[in-house]
Amino acid sequence: MTSYNLLLLPGDGIGPEVAAEVKKVADFLGTAGVARFETETDLVGGAAYDAHGKAISEDAMKLALAADAVLFGAVGGPKWAKVPYEHRPEAGLLRLRKDLQLFANLRPAVCYPALADASSLKREVVEGLDIMIVRELTGGVYFGEPKEIVTLENGEKRAVDTQVYTTHEIERITRVAFDLAKVRRKKVTSTEKHNVMRSGVLWKDVVTKVGAEEYADIELEHHLADACGMQLVRWPKQYDVILCDNLFGDMLSDVAAMLTGSLGMLPSASLGAPDEKTGKRKALYEPVHGSAPDIAGQGLANPIAMIGSFGMALRYSFGLGDAADMVDGAIADVLASGIRTRDIAAKGANAVGTKEMGDAIVAALKKRA
Ligand code: IPM
Ligand code: MG
Repeated sequence: MTSYNLLLLPGDGIGPEVAAEVKKVADFLGTAGVARFETETDLVGGAAYDAHGKAISEDAMKLALAADAVLFGAVGGPKWAKVPYEHRPEAGLLRLRKDLQLFANLRPAVCYPALADASSLKREVVEGLDIMIVRELTGGVYFGEPKEIVTLENGEKRAVDTQVYTTHEIERITRVAFDLAKVRRKKVTSTEKHNVMRSGVLWKDVVTKVGAEEYADIELEHHLADACGMQLVRWPKQYDVILCDNLFGDMLSDVAAMLTGSLGMLPSASLGAPDEKTGKRKALYEPVHGSAPDIAGQGLANPIAMIGSFGMALRYSFGLGDAADMVDGAIADVLASGIRTRDIAAKGANAVGTKEMGDAIVAALKKRA
């Protein structure tokens, strides 16, 4: 049986609670003979700051660089509101993305039929929704320099963030989007603001060129990023793959996430380029939701996004597509049976806790195995 190294970075808030449920699923796949997952656990975010004075330790970074995949929970919370900016919990996540060169962020937004009524939009708008947001993750305004607050001569302050993209950065994320569209519904919608941003002009040009030269059989359309936000809540099923830069992708993926009923449902994958010798990619998998400090420690959090993120690891890091389908199927089975955590339960209906949801998914896996 093949064995893989997983680094678990549960982080803050509900992170440790949902990460514990992933461990159950990984252990089950081991006993079922699918693959063995050796897990190590380390700190990130506020938890790492409390222990080491920074949002991720050098030791944890080493483990992350060596792991076959990193499974990340969530970071942040009011407890760390006053820590120095460079040590804020989010800095741990940004360092991982940058140092592992995880430039491609895949954020699927799938609306399970059983949950169509949990969405704030009408059932017919979201039922059967299956879109993929592809977000550039190591460039743009998140990392562009200068990035600073300076004091001017008159005592006033001036803050600068820099939106910057090179041809190469746009090309490689564009290829990720088109390659995914190939095995989906063969349509890419690229978003930018070329009407006000030079980086948007370049983005649109490069995407158009890559599309025409390398993916003539895939439909390509361009939407201004603001209009895409509007269309996502008007008629999201028009989309298949949506390609975005780092900042627009951050916003549009939250919008897309909410279409599905709950932020607690959505997994994500952050991938590097395949290694030239081994073909392996560095990868980090994390739920789209945050650390939810308001419900942390109460056993109420929905572990589905975290378990779904492990499912994405099976698919994209380990080539275990069948096992990934089994995990996705088990989640769908549990939802179809009516089991709900609080975030996706109808008002007044009974809800289960984090552990019960994890156990139900493992039980559904057993039935499918
Ligand atoms: C996300 C989050 C992060 C981001 C934060 C936690 C830095 O919102 O992954 O979408 O802005 O990228
Ligand atoms: Mg975000």
